[in-house]
Amino acid sequence: MKILYYKMRAVAVTWLLRLMPRQAPMIFKGANSSLALCEQVAVLGYQKVLIVTDNFLYTSGLLDKIISTLEENNVRFAVYDGVLPDPTFDQVQAAEKKLREENCEAIIAVGGGSVLDAAKMTAMLRTNPGDLASFTGIRPSKNAGTPLFAIPTTAGTGSEITLAAVITDPISHMKMPIGDGKLIPRYIALDAELMRTMPPSITAATGMDALTHAVESYLSKASHKASEEHAFAAIKLVFKYLLRAFDNGDDLVARDAMAQASFYGGAAFDKTSVGYVHGIAHQLGRLCGTPHGNANAMVLPEVLLAYGDCVHSKLANLAKLIGIEQTNHTEAELAQQFIQAVIDMRKQMDLPLKPQGLKESHIPDVVKEALAEAGSLYPVPRYMSKKEIADLVRPLLA
Ligand SMILES: [Fe+2]
Repeated sequence: MKILYYKMRAVAVTWLLRLMPRQAPMIFKGANSSLALCEQVAVLGYQKVLIVTDNFLYTSGLLDKIISTLEENNVRFAVYDGVLPDPTFDQVQAAEKKLREENCEAIIAVGGGSVLDAAKMTAMLRTNPGDLASFTGIRPSKNAGTPLFAIPTTAGTGSEITLAAVITDPISHMKMPIGDGKLIPRYIALDAELMRTMPPSITAATGMDALTHAVESYLSKASHKASEEHAFAAIKLVFKYLLRAFDNGDDLVARDAMAQASFYGGAAFDKTSVGYVHGIAHQLGRLCGTPHGNANAMVLPEVLLAYGDCVHSKLANLAKLIGIEQTNHTEAELAQQFIQAVIDMRKQMDLPLKPQGLKESHIPDVVKEALAEAGSLYPVPRYMSKKEIADLVRPLLA
């Protein structure tokens, strides 16, 4: 009975994502494109903006050129630098208060996925005042948000191009997924120059997040021609450039390619949603504080293996896509070769294989919430049982 409910939800999610009106952003690409984006702010006539970021980035000097470009173009600014990983309602409310009290006309978000998600919801809350919890779910808000300019500083979440934001309820610690076409920023800069100083561990984790978005999007039952095109682009770029970016952060060709991979991965799952990898990873983040990309990397190959026959054909296509296929191999063998390629990449980047602090007593909670999340939001290739999810989670115990 529950599977029938999940299937009906999956059909509803598929059509909601297909039919949701979206604004098409203008995209600036290449080294120092973030500065061109700041000049655009002035061209559009905005006189004062709120910069939303996190304290580490703000004090690191990474924003100095952005700020001086705004000053050179006579754009005044206020700063909210209180965004933390897995942003909570109170951070969005504090940023919105500053946006309102400082009379800022637009927002420039500079940071990783947490900053971008917080800025997206700040923009929406400003023009749709009310209880943040009421935004939960996939539905359009009444009013367009405050104009948002997005400058990602990591390459993985793809948040700059998605209609999604995840904000955490500080009391229940539950993550509230929000889907609304009006959340998509109006202007985006993919500036590899800002990603040069990203540490290898974060390059690895965020890159695996981009890969997970693309693979889960392609395997989704909601996958279609346009989403596949973006998923394939992301997967090809990740396999070609992630290790290069990991090995040498100053490799701007690889950084630029990974910024694009993140964007394409986001564009892919924006149309299809994700799958059990994210369903489980979100629980590891909630219970153990595991960074999102790390949590995805811990279970991506294992979930692909657990799906079994129903994904062999698609995974075989991915083996061909990344050029590792061997002639005269069956689809099942090619699928296994793709899964092995993911395991190899995870190993080469020395990504952690287990979350810190996961206990046996957590397993029923992880199983329950992962099944509920996937069942209500993700058109997964096939539904898994409680036992299957528990079998995927148990090896992660310390
Ligand atoms: Fe993700």
